[in-house]
Amino acid sequence: MGTEYLQSLEVLPTEDRKPNPSVSGSAVVFLDQQTGETQQLASGWIYGIPDSPDQIPDKFYTEVGFRYGRGGGSQLPDTRGWYRSKADYDARFQSTLSNYRTTRKYGGNFICLPSALWGADGGQPPDAPYPGDDGDWSSWDELLATWIKDAKANDMLEGLVFDIWNEPDLKFFWNRSREQWLQLWSRSYHVLRREVPGVRISGPCFSTAPEADNEWWQEYLAFVKTDNSIPDEWSWHMEQGYGNLTDGMASFRKLLDQHSIPESGVVNINEYAIWAEQVPSGAVWFISQLERENAIGLRGNWAMAGALHDFLAGLVSKPGAGTKDYSITAGGYFPTAEYHVYKYYGSEMKGQRLKTAANATTDGEVFAVKGSNKLRILAGTRNAKGDWAIDLKGGETLGYTDGTEVEVRVLEFIGTDDHLAEGDGPKNLQSRRLKWQGGQLRLEIHQENPLSAYAFEIALNE
Ligand SMILES: *[C@@H]1O[C@H](CO)[C@@H](O)[C@H](O)[C@H]1NC(C)=O
Ligand SMILES: *[C@@H]1O[C@H](CO)[C@@H](O)[C@H](O)[C@H]1NC(C)=O
Ligand SMILES: *[C@@H]1O[C@H](CO)[C@@H](O)[C@H](O)[C@H]1NC(C)=O
Repeated sequence: MGTEYLQSLEVLPTEDRKPNPSVSGSAVVFLDQQTGETQQLASGWIYGIPDSPDQIPDKFYTEVGFRYGRGGGSQLPDTRGWYRSKADYDARFQSTLSNYRTTRKYGGNFICLPSALWGADGGQPPDAPYPGDDGDWSSWDELLATWIKDAKANDMLEGLVFDIWNEPDLKFFWNRSREQWLQLWSRSYHVLRREVPGVRISGPCFSTAPEADNEWWQEYLAFVKTDNSIPDEWSWHMEQGYGNLTDGMASFRKLLDQHSIPESGVVNINEYAIWAEQVPSGAVWFISQLERENAIGLRGNWAMAGALHDFLAGLVSKPGAGTKDYSITAGGYFPTAEYHVYKYYGSEMKGQRLKTAANATTDGEVFAVKGSNKLRILAGTRNAKGDWAIDLKGGETLGYTDGTEVEVRVLEFIGTDDHLAEGDGPKNLQSRRLKWQGGQLRLEIHQENPLSAYAFEIALNE
């Protein structure tokens, strides 16, 4: 089947991005404040895993520190899902099981998407049925019972998260009332808790971040509080090209507080970044925010049809990708430009995370780790260019005082518009000899390519 990377199946409000965004000011790293050991919280992705095991070589998973997968057989060629036939469900279940096993092979957790098993994965016709139509829940109840039986029989419960419905706030995925979805939530939650108590439950999985005046968030929180169905993982998406996680978390906490729900579990942004942001700079922007807020993140996936189950959500490519010669089963994988950012993040950035702050007026972000012998700093923008900087502060604990000179190695991860092209590893830029002044060390960035990211390394002589 011919396939293309389209902008998306979803409606992408890319127009909301300012054209040619610029960056200025500085983001800050506090060398004297550690925030916990690295866990590569952002190294997850939705779909992207071929259904045939080992099709993509191990190193492409291990080098980036893969830790979270998500799928439910969506867009599997020639299938529609449970609502059309049991055979369709079976095919999608097998795809999900295969992706689960691949994820577990690398020690990751897996998020099951039952809405895709049902067949509400965006490509359904406008008159497709939904669970609970006309007050009849029998078909959904049967799907749940079937899934529970299949998951148990295939030893699929460990490390599993059940994301009750994908983006119910979009008509594209849930073309019914909010009330009907809340009933779906409650029914599914209580059955799962009873039958498979070890499975973690995730939601609400809205396409929009928490906001005080968002009716979906308001009604959901009021409902789960009284229904006693608070999720283990709070999920939402960051795929609108605007907004940020600092704001999202602040609104989330305010909303919880307003509904007297104590904060619990984890936050999982189980789809992040629009297609345009899947470049080295954008990758670092998201990694930095997720790490700062201790949220798990899974890369969004903008491939279509069979190719949705390939390419590790854009981290790898292969001959014929995005053309009429594309073959779902072909090998020959190579890394994309963005891959090298995740490889650096997943393979090199091990140790203690350092506290960071973004500059309130900029689109520039930073993630920093103190390893056993090096400080490693990853810097990137939300596809913006300009003159900006990373300021290191609190150097005294590492023996840096005003006047101390340090040698800084500088790497550039070069981004291009062709996301499927083979990407080179980072380019060594000229290293710099810099001096601590006024209690800080400034790493200046003169960014001409809005798609590039940078790494700075400073050897620690301890
Ligand atoms: C933002 O950047 C400016 C210019 O570098 C700097 O003076 C200011 O302290 C930064 N703000 C924050 C909150 O870090
Ligand atoms: C939602 O349902 C209405 C009524 O059946 C239909 O006209 C519309 O096309 C559907 N929208 C989507 C996005 O499926
Ligand atoms: C987050 O977005 C808000 C606007 O929604 C903006 O005021 C704020 O400066 C942003 N913060 C960061 C850290 O980007």
